[in-house]
Amino acid sequence: MYTLITGGTVVNATGSSRADVLIEDEKIAAVLEPGSNILGTAFLAGIDRVIDATGKYVIPGGIDAHTHMEMPFGGTFASDTFETGTRAAAWGGTTTIIDFAVQYAGEDVLTQFARWHEKAAGKCAIDYAFHQIIGGVNDVSLAAMDTLIDEGVSSFKLFMAYKDVFLSDDGQIVQAMQTASHNGGLLMMHAENGSVIDLLQKQALERGETDPVYHGLTRPWQTEEEATYRAIRLAELTGAPLYVVHVSAKQAAMRIAEARDTGQNVFGETCPQYLWLSLEDQLGAPGFEGSKWVCSTPLRPKAHGHQDHMWTSLRTNDLQLVSTDHCPFCMKGQKELGLGDFTKIPNGIGSVEHRLDLIYQGVVTGKISLERWVEICCTTPARMFGMYGKKGVLQPGADADVVVYDPQGKTNISAQTHHMNLDYSAWEGWEIDGHVDTVVSRGLVVVDDGEYFGHAGHGQYIKRGLSQYLI
Ligand code: URP
Ligand code: ZN
Ligand code: ZN
Ligand code: ZN
Repeated sequence: MYTLITGGTVVNATGSSRADVLIEDEKIAAVLEPGSNILGTAFLAGIDRVIDATGKYVIPGGIDAHTHMEMPFGGTFASDTFETGTRAAAWGGTTTIIDFAVQYAGEDVLTQFARWHEKAAGKCAIDYAFHQIIGGVNDVSLAAMDTLIDEGVSSFKLFMAYKDVFLSDDGQIVQAMQTASHNGGLLMMHAENGSVIDLLQKQALERGETDPVYHGLTRPWQTEEEATYRAIRLAELTGAPLYVVHVSAKQAAMRIAEARDTGQNVFGETCPQYLWLSLEDQLGAPGFEGSKWVCSTPLRPKAHGHQDHMWTSLRTNDLQLVSTDHCPFCMKGQKELGLGDFTKIPNGIGSVEHRLDLIYQGVVTGKISLERWVEICCTTPARMFGMYGKKGVLQPGADADVVVYDPQGKTNISAQTHHMNLDYSAWEGWEIDGHVDTVVSRGLVVVDDGEYFGHAGHGQYIKRGLSQYLI
């Protein structure tokens, strides 16, 4: 089965040029300069499908390296299943997700990993991989980290927040980092000072401060910066590479930049919500409305320039990539759990469908280049998490994960039209430039011109290698 995507501008992280992309079954067979007659007319006549990409960009499928499908959290579950969440991702041009298998304290890591496999198997519309959350560091968990490397899980998330749920103390963090420095794994860190946040939350509730905005006000930037700095120092001590997830504070990004400047293997991601949304405009919305944007780390005040700093950091590679931290909870019955007590609002925002479009606005507004957009959304996630070559690039031999993106198109975001299993949109009413026109996942056209052709079970588990991004 041959598919030819013709007439478009192929954009890789390394450059753009007019070229045609030939797909044979599940792989890219060739990227052909326009007018090259390499294939010959007889061969071209045998092409099964031609996709006209004239005037459009042809980019590698997006990789969302941070999602939480069906995640148990705060007494409920993230509302997207692997089936609904990967379908929504496909609609938005994402062809691979890396989800987090979860071990809570007291649970067995490998048992939990097997459960996440069961949840995802046969359900996904696009390819998927796993990171492992280590919520309880002990000898058995540490040994499991070695086993998981062989299972294609080369990254492990630890938490410096959420006491009695996920939080690891500094000694436990060092133990996990020592293990990662030996087995080649990448240590991912939720960097917030949990015990300070717990105290500030308690004091706020005692003062009768119960609205969603206090979620942000009790997680000030110092709690993110201090934890980020601590994680960097502990990583330096142990020689482990460190990847800081969902960076939102300017000062935390500066710590990461500082460490990188000394040559340390420290990396950071940010998310669309930290680039475009703020404590004043969204989290601080009147009444309970702000609960839609309760996530951790929190949205930051725009008065202090955090959002602009995230863009600059992406441009200068002080931050390396953008994931969504997709963790949706419906208003009805889920976010509502925190009515009258912001600490009970389940943490998370659902954006898996919109990442490519939202970050493309950085191209539209001149904050990043077209190639950088592809790099931070598609290529670096593949390199960072050990999938590059198979994923993240349009070149012969790579998986045929391809998006045809129309820069002249428009995208209107609304809960009425999105495909996530979520009863509101954090981006309701956004009318933005650019549109995902066609999406190919391992050779299968899953989305084309507003129609869906994917199916549950098309997505395969990707066994990842070690990070290909280390300095
Ligand atoms: O608010 C968030 N980020 N929810 C998901 C869990 C996490 O810490 O990533
Ligand atoms: Zn986190
Ligand atoms: Zn997360
Ligand atoms: Zn089309």
